[in-house]
Amino acid sequence: MGKRVVVVGVPGVGKTTVVGEAVRLLRGAGREAEVAVFGTFMLEEASKMGVGHRDDMRRLPIEAQRELQSRAAKMIARIPAEVVFVDTHAFIRTPSGLWPGLPRHVLEELQPHLFVVVEAAPDEILSRRSRDAGRRRDPIDARGVEEELSMTRAFIAAASVLTGAPTLTVMNREGRAGEAAQRIVEAIGGL
Ligand code: AP5
Repeated sequence: MGKRVVVVGVPGVGKTTVVGEAVRLLRGAGREAEVAVFGTFMLEEASKMGVGHRDDMRRLPIEAQRELQSRAAKMIARIPAEVVFVDTHAFIRTPSGLWPGLPRHVLEELQPHLFVVVEAAPDEILSRRSRDAGRRRDPIDARGVEEELSMTRAFIAAASVLTGAPTLTVMNREGRAGEAAQRIVEAIGGL
């Protein structure tokens, strides 16, 4: 069975960029690596319910989000590759509060081998969010981002204990996504 690496981070921290670099490094070394963006799998299903934008999914009733989440996890679990990166979230900010992106039913489907938490300085995260013009982000300041970083650590600690998979934290420094990716590739080598 391939290795499933679940990558989380607050919106705009650059996890998609870092994962892309890690895939490039692995493929360059002759290894088979794929990326599953959890939100994209959910959006494919959500679009059948008339949801047109990925940032509208977190405002659906929790029951509807849970159904989409469950379908996405089942589809992602079937992806065959030596290394599958799952680009997702430790929690989602919903009108009803912070809701887990990796509850037990999702973890049972995904059976992760490694969790990666991508972090960056709060001001860099805010600046990356402001550059993503196509997104409908919640208005938030640097203190709010710090709280999100801290809650990400808390939610991932729970997932790590539930599954027994280790957690690696990487810093995605400005202009240096490749360094974070390199650290992830090293960690995969030790699984
Ligand atoms: P998702 O699609 O994951 O959206 P997101 O978190 O907003 O992710 P982004 O892709 O926008 O940010 P990113 O951190 O990957 O940053 P990026 O690399 O693009 O989730 C969408 C929705 O799906 C969620 O809201 C939720 O509703 C749902 N969902 C997902 N998982 C779920 C789950 N498990 N359960 C339930 N619902 C779930 O980079 C951002 C910018 O920064 C870019 O411009 C990039 O070029 C730049 N950048 C990145 N790194 C660097 C660097 N080192 N230096 C300079 N610039 C950089």
